[in-house]
Amino acid sequence: MILPNLAIIGAQWGDEGKGKITDYLDETADLVVRFQGGNNAGHTITVGERVFKLHSLPSGVVRKGNLAVIGNGVVMNVDDLLEEMEQVLSAGGSLEGLRISDRAHLIFNYHKKLDGAEEKYRGSDAVGTTKKGIGPAYQDKIARIGVRAGDLLDDELLKEKVDFILPYKKDLMSMLDAEVCGCECGMLLDKMRKWREKIGGYICDTSVLINEALDNGKKVLFEGAQGAMLDIDHGTYPYVTSSATCGGGICTGAGIAPKRIEKVVGCLKAYTTRVGEGPFVTELHGKEADALQKKGGEFGVTTGRGRRCGWLDLVVAEHASRMCGFTSFAITKLDVLNDYDELPVCVAYKIDGKETKYFPASISKLERAEPVYKTMKGWKGWNDTASVVKGGYGALPKEMRTYIEFIENHMNVPADIISIGPDRADTIDRKKNWWV
Ligand code: GDP
Ligand code: IMO
Ligand code: MG
Repeated sequence: MILPNLAIIGAQWGDEGKGKITDYLDETADLVVRFQGGNNAGHTITVGERVFKLHSLPSGVVRKGNLAVIGNGVVMNVDDLLEEMEQVLSAGGSLEGLRISDRAHLIFNYHKKLDGAEEKYRGSDAVGTTKKGIGPAYQDKIARIGVRAGDLLDDELLKEKVDFILPYKKDLMSMLDAEVCGCECGMLLDKMRKWREKIGGYICDTSVLINEALDNGKKVLFEGAQGAMLDIDHGTYPYVTSSATCGGGICTGAGIAPKRIEKVVGCLKAYTTRVGEGPFVTELHGKEADALQKKGGEFGVTTGRGRRCGWLDLVVAEHASRMCGFTSFAITKLDVLNDYDELPVCVAYKIDGKETKYFPASISKLERAEPVYKTMKGWKGWNDTASVVKGGYGALPKEMRTYIEFIENHMNVPADIISIGPDRADTIDRKKNWWV
């Protein structure tokens, strides 16, 4: 039996347009589930004049009627979440369907301070994190000293945990020369009780919820954050985030069995960007990079940092596809590539004189890697996106179709969604029914 579920995962280093594609596909979904990451994510959804910038909330909150689930694999900063919840409500979204896993871990101020301190300690080897406390919060989860959303419902357990963890974190902060937070145990407990009043009603066992929804034939959409190349195991370690961003992360981060995932949409930007440090083989520099950054509006949603820009890298996309099992691509931002005479696409790396199509684990090899390009013909723009969308795939410039089909053939994955603008409407859908 084919289960009606879909996953959307970034095929590069994040910011591929996952928010837009999730919002597009969740029109017909019943549940939208975030399964990893935290408010390091910044997912943009544009619906006419309304623009939503979501960090912790699943994109499903934009449409009324969806259940929007923060799964157990997510780390959550409650203060930031509460602020985001207000923004969503005032922008016309809905929180009725919000559910938060009792197993999701919480991010505290000390995690943010430690994130900054660790980055400072690393000096020139800094990762370039979002400084949201993501790494330190996942460290606590793995070290078995984290505080989970469900703990908010148990006052005695909370007190026990806070009494242990706060002095420990204060020692750690002073060891790392970080500004030690002035918060005392009693203050933190009071704050957490306020959190309980505000979000306690949303907390439940979301794994049961998701599994029962699947059993009952409901349509479940899993919304990835970051991208495959930021995966803790398969990304450009150590220049990665601290969660499992690839296919496997869905199972552990949502609490479902691997056999339940059948369709995975790889969200692939038509070129490449990355924020923060780390290797980037097809990176552009100087004027060319600045021009692409400006054309694509490539500035981070979470930190405002300029994104590094470069050509499409299919060595990256193939690595991502192996790790995630893409069954479709949603190719985004093709409109940004208008008006180039030529478009290089990287199909292999040359490392120490040898060609390879496999993405190496070694950072030093990646730094020595030279891109092997196939040069594609560019295309000239159009003025009226709406009429191109109406005309469907065939109305796209011929050279753009050749670019898309080259990707499909090289990857052996169909490009079922073509995105040519930020708005929900700027989308060409080549698949009739996503749920069968
Ligand atoms: P996410 O983190 O993967 O959800 O992506 P972000 O929201 O961080 O960044 C993607 C940016 O590109 C956002 O500003 C989107 O509104 C925008 N975007 C998404 N798809 C398209 C597209 O096809 N064309 C253009 N021009 N912009 C797009
Ligand atoms: P979305 O979901 C792009 C990057 C940071 C840094 C590295 C580690 O919007 O695609 P972290 O704060 O996670 O410890 O930082 O990961 N990073 C992202 N880059 N998009 C994201 O999310 C990102 N989330 C984290 O810039 O290089
Ligand atoms: Mg983003």
